[in-house]
Amino acid sequence: MNLHQYIDSQKDANLAELIEFLKIPSVSTKSENKPDIERAAKWVADKLRDAGLEKVEILPTGGHPMVYGEWLKAPGKPTVLLYGHYDVQPAEPLELWTTPAFEPAVRGGNLFGRGTADDKGQVHIHVAAIRALMKVEGRLPVNIKVMIEGEEEVGSKNLWNFVERYRDKLKADALVVSDTSMLAKGVPSVTYGLRGLNYYQIEVTGPAQDLHSGVFGGPAPNPLRAISELFTQLHDKHNRVAIPGFNKDVAPLSKAERKALNSLPWSKKEFLKTMGAPGPGFAPEKGCTIVEQLWCRPTLELNGVWGGYTGEGAKTVIPSKAWAKFSTRLVPNQEPGKIAKIVEKHIRKLLPKIYTLKFEVLSMGKPWAAPYTHPYFLAAQRAMEKGFGKKAVFIREGGSIPFVTQMYDTFDVPCVLLGFGLPDENAHAPNEHLYLENYFGGIKAVADFYKELAVA
Ligand code: BES
Ligand code: MN
Ligand code: MN
Repeated sequence: MNLHQYIDSQKDANLAELIEFLKIPSVSTKSENKPDIERAAKWVADKLRDAGLEKVEILPTGGHPMVYGEWLKAPGKPTVLLYGHYDVQPAEPLELWTTPAFEPAVRGGNLFGRGTADDKGQVHIHVAAIRALMKVEGRLPVNIKVMIEGEEEVGSKNLWNFVERYRDKLKADALVVSDTSMLAKGVPSVTYGLRGLNYYQIEVTGPAQDLHSGVFGGPAPNPLRAISELFTQLHDKHNRVAIPGFNKDVAPLSKAERKALNSLPWSKKEFLKTMGAPGPGFAPEKGCTIVEQLWCRPTLELNGVWGGYTGEGAKTVIPSKAWAKFSTRLVPNQEPGKIAKIVEKHIRKLLPKIYTLKFEVLSMGKPWAAPYTHPYFLAAQRAMEKGFGKKAVFIREGGSIPFVTQMYDTFDVPCVLLGFGLPDENAHAPNEHLYLENYFGGIKAVADFYKELAVA
């Protein structure tokens, strides 16, 4: 049996094993799921060992544990560091799932469940590919180090320390990640750029305590009003972020890259359909296409606002405090620390002095974009074409993976992102799913990729 035939013969077994993985509710943000996090880490470690990796260990990080494994018996061949995450986003709102989030189900060629696309399904593609290579060829074509973490979905806070501490252990010639999407169904894609992410929270205090809105309303300051007014001032009429200095360091796109990105087989109609926007109900930025806006322009988004009375019926109250969570997506060459300062300064300036402000930066992450001329990118393109039988394209994406930038900055190595998700698979939302053709095709593409790397 050759490699692809073997992978085909393992379809049912692989799917059954992935379903087992998906049943573990490894939600990283909730302390009640800590035992599930531990269970998921152990599950990954067991499967890596079973696939033939050596020195498999579960390493403490200060937060959720890291699973590590390696196979370094290909002298003279490149060493690849494979990264992924076994943690998932919360499943809420539960009532919007057709079948429960942690009871995976197949419908219409898709596997539904939390973590199918982001990122357990994609991690398992690599586990299955490594196992197939070991079974059929008795060895791997390249040296591999595997690092699967448990707190990507909460900002990978402990990863930086971890990388510093295990610097030598993690050294590699390339980083390989499958935690992104294809441009569209039938368009295998290699991602060479991601946006960075800064996440903020503010607390605005007006009166010293809640007030009766009849007795004090009018003259009393209202922190919810302050937050509302604040956030109406952060964009201009062209939908650009309107904070002085915020856009200053944004690297302009080269003519060639602009042309390449805008000639991709990307459909605005499909995009609007997936977004669910009524009519032209979206906010294009003046001077760039939607693709450029999504991948190469920064944003500021309000993610949640609360305060006052939000229960049933009416309560006439002026709240003492109000809160907002918001975030900025960053693009090259914006520097997260500098941006956080600029944002805080501007918000302090805009907020009337009768209020007090507590400003917190919950996490910071750098943007990343690298040339895709390195032979490893071309190896990835060839492997994707072989695995899916379709032309593969190079794309950037708007999401963020803190570790990719950290690796790129620490080791200056090519980071090759092979995404097997699709933009409409509801990552982070109810009814998350993974297109099974991409899951099975992914296993072949990844196995081929490791072989291509050995001769790249
Ligand atoms: N897999 C995603 C990142 C992603 C999404 C890349 C879409 C490309 C396209 C990852 O799990 C994620 O959700 N990252 C967070 C950032 C993190 C700091 C919480 C994100 O992008 O919001
Ligand atoms: Mn992910
Ligand atoms: Mn995610």
